[in-house]
Amino acid sequence: MSEVPDPVEADRALKAKHRAMWAQGDYPAVAAEIIPDLGPILVEACGLRGGGGTGAPGAEGRGARVLDVAAGSGNAAIPAALAGASVVASDLTPELFEAGRRLAAERGVEVEWRQADAEALPFEDDEFDTVLSCVGVMFAPHHQAAADELVRVCRPGGTIGLLSWTPEGFLGQMLATMKPYMPPPPPGAQPPPLWGDEAHVRTLLGDRVTDVEARKQTVLVDRFKSPEEFRDYFKARYGPTIAAYRAVADDPDRTAALDRDLAELARRHDKGSGSTAMEWEYLLFTARTA
Ligand SMILES: C[S@@+](CC[C@H](N)C(=O)[O-])C[C@H]1O[C@@H](n2cnc3c(N)ncnc32)[C@H](O)[C@@H]1O
Repeated sequence: MSEVPDPVEADRALKAKHRAMWAQGDYPAVAAEIIPDLGPILVEACGLRGGGGTGAPGAEGRGARVLDVAAGSGNAAIPAALAGASVVASDLTPELFEAGRRLAAERGVEVEWRQADAEALPFEDDEFDTVLSCVGVMFAPHHQAAADELVRVCRPGGTIGLLSWTPEGFLGQMLATMKPYMPPPPPGAQPPPLWGDEAHVRTLLGDRVTDVEARKQTVLVDRFKSPEEFRDYFKARYGPTIAAYRAVADDPDRTAALDRDLAELARRHDKGSGSTAMEWEYLLFTARTA
């Protein structure tokens, strides 16, 4: 008779696997070189701005207590600190904090770095004025648990801000392209780009938020000379892509097929301007806690 798996132990093992995945390669380079604009866009959408200093906490940056969930190397946390907020950057993968600390020091701001699973945040109820996540919380596998934590640690009348890749946009399609090459996710784990679907996020947050604003936007990614250069960059630096290649490493045909599929994806999204220029779509979602 097979043993019933212990759910707590199974979740610990899953999170350890996720941490190892995000620690490999060079995610801080991806954040700094491909999507550095997204953190400031989210911070601005949350109403965090520098200067002034007369508004209530949360109305602008100065004095606001901000939590960046799944902060990585601080793509949103550092701009929030630059806006004058007191910022905690939390992430499952503390290996990314070293780069974050260096970047924060270069920009002359202080950020507190805390290892934390987005599904079990080590913070008090109502502790933050603003809780935000830039293409971050979407990668926690249990969406309702993560959403409940965002709401729990945000004070009533505070702001929740989320920037997430959409299912139909480039990154959503990239994850879908890699999926058949990877082992199936465990039962109950949900696909990250669902957080890019407004209706899904509204359902997760329910009537615990008001004043929802959601809009789809794109970020231009034009640093790659060819679809193959894009593919090789991600193959070397981006944890989920490295994991997909590892899963088929002993099968040259599957590896070649993944090579083709990723280059083809970039070719399809290329706006055709000589080098590869792509618009990557995301959902920018903000709401006030009721
Ligand atoms: C695409 S990166 C985004 C990082 C950063 N917010 C940015 O904009 O560059 C996704 C992040 O989610 C983190 N992550 C994945 N699962 C998580 C979980 N269950 N709890 C907290 N962080 C998680 C990873 O460690 C990684 O830093």
